Amino acid sequence: MYSKIVGTGSYLPEKILTNADLEKLVDTNDEWIRSRTGIERRHVVADNETTCDLAEHAARRAMSAAGINADEVDLIIIGTTTPDQLFPNVGCLLQQRLGIGGPPAIQIEAACSSFIYALSIADKFIRLGDAKCALVIGAECLTRLIDWSDRSTCVLFGDGAGAVILKPSAQPGIISTHLHADGKYSDLLYYPTGPSKKFNPTVACQTAIQMKGSEVFKVAVTKLGGIVDETLAANNLDKSAIDWLVPHQANMRIIQAIAKKLELPMERVIVTVHNQGNTSAASVPLALDTGVRDGRIKPGSLILLEAFGGGFTWGSALIRL
Ligand code: ACO
Repeated sequence: MYSKIVGTGSYLPEKILTNADLEKLVDTNDEWIRSRTGIERRHVVADNETTCDLAEHAARRAMSAAGINADEVDLIIIGTTTPDQLFPNVGCLLQQRLGIGGPPAIQIEAACSSFIYALSIADKFIRLGDAKCALVIGAECLTRLIDWSDRSTCVLFGDGAGAVILKPSAQPGIISTHLHADGKYSDLLYYPTGPSKKFNPTVACQTAIQMKGSEVFKVAVTKLGGIVDETLAANNLDKSAIDWLVPHQANMRIIQAIAKKLELPMERVIVTVHNQGNTSAASVPLALDTGVRDGRIKPGSLILLEAFGGGFTWGSALIRL
């Protein structure tokens, strides 16, 4: 028994922030942002929007693409770093919106790798026979965690959501998933506060993402390169077998480095970072849905998904659509 993606969906909030808009906020410029990151614009949630709102749009589009009704869903797993509230989790909030009650609703937090983690867990539920129709989502309002006066981070992130429907299949859809984490890098990329940490007035910047960008960059390229090798080796595959790379969209230069390692021309890589920035947990399912809906990714394609994020966490999934 395998699991297979039978529908994808995604959603971006309406408001767009261009590099020119950011030039008015901080000492930056379009040329710097484009050349260092590839980002040209990003979508940002409205004041009254939340992660659950974005997730609901993406989920409804994925269910429609899969041709299923909400009451067929028997498992919800949502990856996010930016839940609406501490509890109930976003999966429970979403159940209310979709009018379904009963199935487990699980929320996974592994920063930008959250969707790959969620997909891997949902795959195991289905292969064990514990679920027959899983709604797997990556949704994020990361711009809520930004210090808009910090030019080293505020130019990088955006908001959005992507979702897939997973069903059992006799043929492998999710062929293998590979997950990793290494907490020794936790001081390179983090959000300083949480509910169990007492407020410390001596620590500056407690309410915004902190990142040592160039160090994150180096580890990301190394770990993602390693997970590409691991995924190919686990499946006894040559890199030439991969039809599409659907990478985490943090930085164009990281994406190019992984494409080069796979000897894939950029025409075989789904790139959304220029239009969306880094949407964290949402970036891989958003890119997957983009490639499916514009017709580039065809049924039967062999696709490598990969992501890297705070923790550090990283992961990959080899899938056939
Ligand atoms: N505009 C203009 N100048 C800037 C900006 C900006 N927005 N930001 C930084 N600079 C300056 C710096 O101050 C520095 O100036 P200095 O040399 O005078 O000190 C200079 O540009 C170079 O800074 P670096 O940080 O060395 O620039 P780098 O080439 O490394 O690019 C970047 C920075 C884009 C952040 C890159 O390191 C990167 O993408 N890192 C990876 C981030 C990532 O992948 N995150 C993924 C996980 S996210 C998650 O999990 C939530």
